[in-house]
Amino acid sequence: RGEDGTLAFALTMQRGRSALLPGEPVETWGFNGPYLGPTIRASRGDKVRMTVTNRLAETSTVHWHGMRLPAGMDGGPHQPIEPGATWSPHWTVDQPATTSWYHPHPHGATARHVYRGLAGMFIVDDGPAELPSRYGVDDIPLILQDKVLDPAPDPLKGTFGILGDHMLVNGTYRGLLNVRTERVRFRVLNGSNARRYHLTFADGRSFHVVGGDAGPLAAPVEVDRVSLTPGERVEVVVSFTGGEQVLLRTVSGSDDIDEGDFDLVKIVAAPRLAASPPLPGRLAGAPAPVVVPPQATVRRFRLNGHDAINGQEMDMSRIDEVVPAGAVEIWEVENTVYAHNFHIHEVAFQVLDVDGAKPEKWAAGHKDTVYVPPKSTVRLAVQFGKFTDPGTPYMYHCHLLRHEDSGMMGQFVIV
Ligand code: C2O
Ligand code: CU
Ligand code: CU
Repeated sequence: RGEDGTLAFALTMQRGRSALLPGEPVETWGFNGPYLGPTIRASRGDKVRMTVTNRLAETSTVHWHGMRLPAGMDGGPHQPIEPGATWSPHWTVDQPATTSWYHPHPHGATARHVYRGLAGMFIVDDGPAELPSRYGVDDIPLILQDKVLDPAPDPLKGTFGILGDHMLVNGTYRGLLNVRTERVRFRVLNGSNARRYHLTFADGRSFHVVGGDAGPLAAPVEVDRVSLTPGERVEVVVSFTGGEQVLLRTVSGSDDIDEGDFDLVKIVAAPRLAASPPLPGRLAGAPAPVVVPPQATVRRFRLNGHDAINGQEMDMSRIDEVVPAGAVEIWEVENTVYAHNFHIHEVAFQVLDVDGAKPEKWAAGHKDTVYVPPKSTVRLAVQFGKFTDPGTPYMYHCHLLRHEDSGMMGQFVIV
């Protein structure tokens, strides 16, 4: 923290080598290290300044996925960082408590840069902690990624790009986590290129979802499974009993992007567990529901392949949508083909319905990324921010990175 109270973070994108999987180490990229990056943590109201240096041999960017900020600070394809250069965005954190993340966003190369390992978590706190919040003790990040054994796979191969059969959690294959408290909060990020996870515990135990992409739920929701597509986050609280062991797994779904049952991490509870605060009945700091005004603008987006939206490939020089500051709009995403998802920069949205059906309760909170099932229509109530900049666009796109890179992306400005 500097003299004026600004929180300063330094990130260096660099190359390294990591033994991610059994066998020879492979070339990996990371922030301040060989793979992934440090967790950034700030509180609502903090001024933050990032110093991002690119020590790679090619141009990249760093996008703050989930952060509400001016378009020039967003880190999308319009804020390139050349090799050797430094980019220093700054903004005031002003949004509900969230688990967000950061990753490169260079147009056409995001899949390769993220797969190499460039990603990190960005936690926003808001108000006093009523949930477990001792980082690394009872507040644990879980970054889920799937890998293939090929050390340099083509991330633009096939319909979906890379779908791995080796699961990493926080860059660790077949990891083991020791827990020492009765309850643990997990902040789960799907940092994979294409895979959809259906998370369950091997013993089928239930747990509570307390937050989604863009803020806490109004109240904890009990579930025994949650599903996450690339870019989505969920916060859950899990109870343990002394001395037990349990596996966190992902199980197959019915889609092309969720094939296979895999163990993710083994959790071992200490024989005697420290007491945890009770799970609150209502969660403080939950954002108010997004209210759609009667005459709200409706915009339609059609996904009918893997390289375009509404029949148009992403074009850096074309503005697709112009949105008034602070607007609430309905965005209707129609998918006529196989699995996609949809992410909108800068905003928070709530899912109104998927083919007319309300989302499950645990997925009904504020979000910024949503699964769009094959041959379905998802309607979103989107709350736009207040930062105007007619000359600098934000992105919306499929977060299956192969699709994003192939042009399934568009640009909007807030005016
Ligand atoms: Cu996570 Cu446009 O990105
Ligand atoms: Cu984003
Ligand atoms: Cu897609």
